[in-house]
Amino acid sequence: MHMFSRRLWLKSLKTTGFSSLCLASLTVLPAVCRAEPDSAAPQVKLVAPGIWRLRFGNPEEFTPTHFRSAPMDAAGLEAKASSRPMPLDPAKISFQVSDRGCSLHWPMKSDERIYGFGLHTELFNMAGQRVILKPTDKPENDLGESHAPVPFYVSSQGYGVFVDTARFASFYTGNVSPVGEPVKTSNGEIQTSTAELYRSRAPQVKTMLVDVPVAKGVDVYVFAGPTMLDAVERYNLFSGGGAMPPLWGLGVQYRGYAKYGAAETLALAGRLRAAHMPCDVWGVEPGWQSHAYSCSFVWATNRFPDPDGFLRKMNAMGYKMNFWEHAFTSPTSPMYDKLKPWSGNYLVWNGLVPDFASPQARRIFLRQNDTALFNRGIESVKLDECDYQPGSPKPWSFPLATQFPSGLDGEVMHSLFGVLYQQTMWQPYQDKGLRTWGMVRNSQALASPLPYVLYSDSYDARCYVRGLINAGFSGLLWDPEVRAASSVEDLYHRLEVAIFSDDAVIDSWFIPNPPWDQVDRAKNARNEFMPDRQSVAAEVRELLDLRMSFIPYLYSAFNEYRVTGKPPIRALVLDWPNDPRVRQIDDEFMYGDSVLVAPMFAGDTNRPVYLPAGAWYDFWTHEEISGGRSIEATNGVGQIPLYVKGGTLLPLAKPVEFIKPDTCFDITVNMVGEKPADFTLYDDDGLTTAYARGEQTEIELHADGDNHSLQRSGKYRGPERYKISGWTRF
Ligand code: GAL
Repeated sequence: MHMFSRRLWLKSLKTTGFSSLCLASLTVLPAVCRAEPDSAAPQVKLVAPGIWRLRFGNPEEFTPTHFRSAPMDAAGLEAKASSRPMPLDPAKISFQVSDRGCSLHWPMKSDERIYGFGLHTELFNMAGQRVILKPTDKPENDLGESHAPVPFYVSSQGYGVFVDTARFASFYTGNVSPVGEPVKTSNGEIQTSTAELYRSRAPQVKTMLVDVPVAKGVDVYVFAGPTMLDAVERYNLFSGGGAMPPLWGLGVQYRGYAKYGAAETLALAGRLRAAHMPCDVWGVEPGWQSHAYSCSFVWATNRFPDPDGFLRKMNAMGYKMNFWEHAFTSPTSPMYDKLKPWSGNYLVWNGLVPDFASPQARRIFLRQNDTALFNRGIESVKLDECDYQPGSPKPWSFPLATQFPSGLDGEVMHSLFGVLYQQTMWQPYQDKGLRTWGMVRNSQALASPLPYVLYSDSYDARCYVRGLINAGFSGLLWDPEVRAASSVEDLYHRLEVAIFSDDAVIDSWFIPNPPWDQVDRAKNARNEFMPDRQSVAAEVRELLDLRMSFIPYLYSAFNEYRVTGKPPIRALVLDWPNDPRVRQIDDEFMYGDSVLVAPMFAGDTNRPVYLPAGAWYDFWTHEEISGGRSIEATNGVGQIPLYVKGGTLLPLAKPVEFIKPDTCFDITVNMVGEKPADFTLYDDDGLTTAYARGEQTEIELHADGDNHSLQRSGKYRGPERYKISGWTRF
């Protein structure tokens, strides 16, 4: 096989005696000396029904598939059998290798749209630009940098493509033209506005160009449709299926002030219970450690003199516990010396960067985390600071030149750091057969089985919604968390989005009091409360109750994610691929199969909401609305615009404050519209991984006119989880 780098090519010409002739012609025809296409066709392998691997050149060893988090769900893919032909024609894919890496290009359709590439908060349809997949802690950009950049996209042509690389790859999605493509020249008129100038220069033949630095070859996986949703589901099943949360993971999470010790935390946690504020998970921020930034992974005995006693008291109040950490290991940590040989050769905040690609580093790191956290039975962790800052003049994380003992370099490690860290910290739960539901600030490809939800320090409300919608294209989950707010109205609107997300988090790490006492950060720090804080708290409680009433519905949607790969939160374009009016909608989304959510933002008195064709019902008024058109929503604060699809069953529970192993949800089944389709309520023990051995139950809800029934199947027989106390017409 030929590696036609410019250097090698020139060398081969020299040895054949044509060098001077060629070099002379090179000055006239420089295009001749560009890296030449590799003539060898890719090796094509059918990996599973509807998934092909195309191998070009010699791929690198350290790629996302090398570090898979779970085996491919072969049975799930088999169940989704496909007889569709491969959507990309290998003969039309051009591959070339050069000294700087390799690249591929293939033709795009002129009106092809591109979605995915990870958790993007500014981009949506990404056709016609360059997307550079770099991890960042500043996701509000249109460059492609993201907390979770994923080299996977879906095309409006109804297929998906995953390029198996941990390099900072660039995708040029239709804005470059390879030489040799037919070119129509413009009429040559001189343009005077920038917009006109660029329009006349736009390529006439669209091409997808993938530029992978360093690698001399790459595997490309192609996922069949027929729809984009099918391709996304196949990608998630290829990744190992969707993550299954513990039932409590879907409840509300409150994260306390970073400076609080045990006494203040217990007092505040007690206040939330006394106020009947729904809360399942309590997050403890850096203050639990004796040294943070970098981390000691040792309790601060001045603030937490009796960790076990503290945890016992929190558990007694019904809280599951989540603890903050980052991976950078302080010289004050007892594991420092042992970890040193299994770390990168640069420090971060004077701490070691564990080489999570090596089993030794994982073992040492886990032993210390076992001692501090896992052996005490904590339910989950928040994995902070595992992203990067490509554009910063003073980057705080490890340099790209870092070398790790496992052989990974800094670039590859930055792409995979979040995934490897999640895997490491998931292991203790897997070993015990328990589920967890944590938080993480960086992820990459094949992440759908990982039970971690992404979050950010960036805080633009509209970006948060777009992030939520985009995450569903790439096997990611997103927590648009609530911290302080610019006004009470802003607080309500932010909460409305948080409760309709993968993780409903109120992150008060920088304020001593809950935001419903005082939204203003500085005043909150001075314990100056809002005069109307009681009524604000009551409104917040109602919103959190709304989250709790959706839990059985959401849990069932997550089970579908696990089994079929269908994301619980989706862009409308995934559900209505043929409706041209949803193609650019990045501020409305489907929440499960029945509910369309259209968030409002601070300052909005109204907003347009596009409802796809069919009958819809306003969640609040139950008014029927015919779709296929835009309506104007004028909902007040606290009443986020929600529309329930006609012909569905929507089970809603009486809210509980928090979930116990024996919680029984009191459910009313809403029969929405004509001839509602059956709904499958899912149940299992809510805590362990016994579901994977078939310990699960499905309750099929069926309504036909005024007759309704339910049919239970499956072998899980725990305490009764769902009491259907009513069926009602919406
Ligand atoms: C940030 C993180 C915040 C909070 C804080 C504590 O990096 O994004 O959510 O945990 O650290 O120091």
